[in-house]
Amino acid sequence: MATIPGSVGLPILGDKSYEFYKDPVKFCQKNMSSNKSRLFYTRFLNKPTAFICSNKAVHELLTDHNDSIELGYKAFMGEIFGDNILFSDGEDARNLRHSLQQLFTPDSVDTYQLTIDSVVDKAVSAISTEEPVCIYSLMKKVCTEICLSLFLGLNFSDASQTADTIVALTTTHWHGIISVPLPLKLPMTNGSSYSQALHAKDSLLKIIISKREENSGKFVKSVEDTATTSTDSLREVFINNHLLLFTSALVPKALSSLLTSLIMEVGKEDGGLQEKLLSDPAMMEAVLLEVQRLYPPFLGGRRIVKKDVVLGGYKIPEGHSIMYVTQAAHRDPEAFTDPDKFNPYRWINCSTEEKDKLFCFGAGARNCIGQHLVGKILQTIVVRLLCSWKFKLIGDQDFSHKWLPVSKPKQDVKVQFSSRNA
Ligand code: HEM
Repeated sequence: MATIPGSVGLPILGDKSYEFYKDPVKFCQKNMSSNKSRLFYTRFLNKPTAFICSNKAVHELLTDHNDSIELGYKAFMGEIFGDNILFSDGEDARNLRHSLQQLFTPDSVDTYQLTIDSVVDKAVSAISTEEPVCIYSLMKKVCTEICLSLFLGLNFSDASQTADTIVALTTTHWHGIISVPLPLKLPMTNGSSYSQALHAKDSLLKIIISKREENSGKFVKSVEDTATTSTDSLREVFINNHLLLFTSALVPKALSSLLTSLIMEVGKEDGGLQEKLLSDPAMMEAVLLEVQRLYPPFLGGRRIVKKDVVLGGYKIPEGHSIMYVTQAAHRDPEAFTDPDKFNPYRWINCSTEEKDKLFCFGAGARNCIGQHLVGKILQTIVVRLLCSWKFKLIGDQDFSHKWLPVSKPKQDVKVQFSSRNA
């Protein structure tokens, strides 16, 4: 059987991780072009790695091959988070998902609406029209407050000092996530950030335990109710570590990434797109889908082959790694016409199969369990923002994106708000 084009090179010497981290999009484009293939082999993190940039092959990987592949995150993030669903596979993962999914069903998510509304209402009514606003900073503040209010029952008005401490700890913890010690020296690695992050993790876990003792918030209680593990100590690990995962900076950063990209693209359009978003739910959905397509917060994901697998007609042997590249799969010309163009109209009256070409939230058995909640938060913020304000992008701005560790425009996108009723 044919093997994927490319070369896995020599250990250490042939490693391409540095080149990838410097500019992941250019790295994929260069390799796709030199190998004349959207699937190519390279040496990454010192392992033979198949990069998958074809939309069809990413779909096949995520939906068809669950028994032959494992998630590949534990080696990088296991210590910084402790055991959780992201580092489990097989039966364990299925059981954890079964428990955790109850927290994020559409019905459960509806019960979070009041908390989301109260944070968003306060933040949106405080927007200044005096001077341009940096949209990413604003969105990150709102999304952090939503996540900590929902997942820890924190009240930012009553306990602003505790909230500030927690936000500072999640930031230090985050710096550890992106500076994980790796077998190779990479541009984003830094040993001291990593040890500070481990301390931040311990402090966050202490806060989580004290919040549980205070009986604070419905979500904490629901996580406790879903914990069905066999022993008391495993139950404690399940509850505390998943609360740590949900309250980590990862989620607000991903939410702010999508919101910033949305406001940037909507702000570029004239012709009444802002008004259309408010009056036409189909247009709102189309814009949200198109933003996910062009600007997925996570560039892609990682897998380890545990049994030889055939993907896109190529054999990938046991022990090799796979990187699926969502960003490239979303711009595969075989899947989308004019793939680099922001065109929300492509999603109007589209079929389910078309939507299945998006991997912003992964796909298949290990897809994102939080996506209904994400949809609810995004819709609430966008609708509430547009009900009160019109916005305009300021002057000449650089809208190019960076992709790691979470995508966002390289420069702060600045917008001027004005009252919708003025
Ligand atoms: C914009 C926000 C978010 C984005 C873009 C996002 C994206 C993703 C993606 C791409 C995956 C699959 C990773 C893979 O295939 O390797 C994933 C998995 C997951 N997400 Fe999200 N996510 C978001 C928000 C959330 C939220 C709000 C929660 C819960 C509070 C959440 C919980 C999870 C969990 C637990 C998994 C692992 C599922 C498993 O391993 O079976 N995510 N997410």
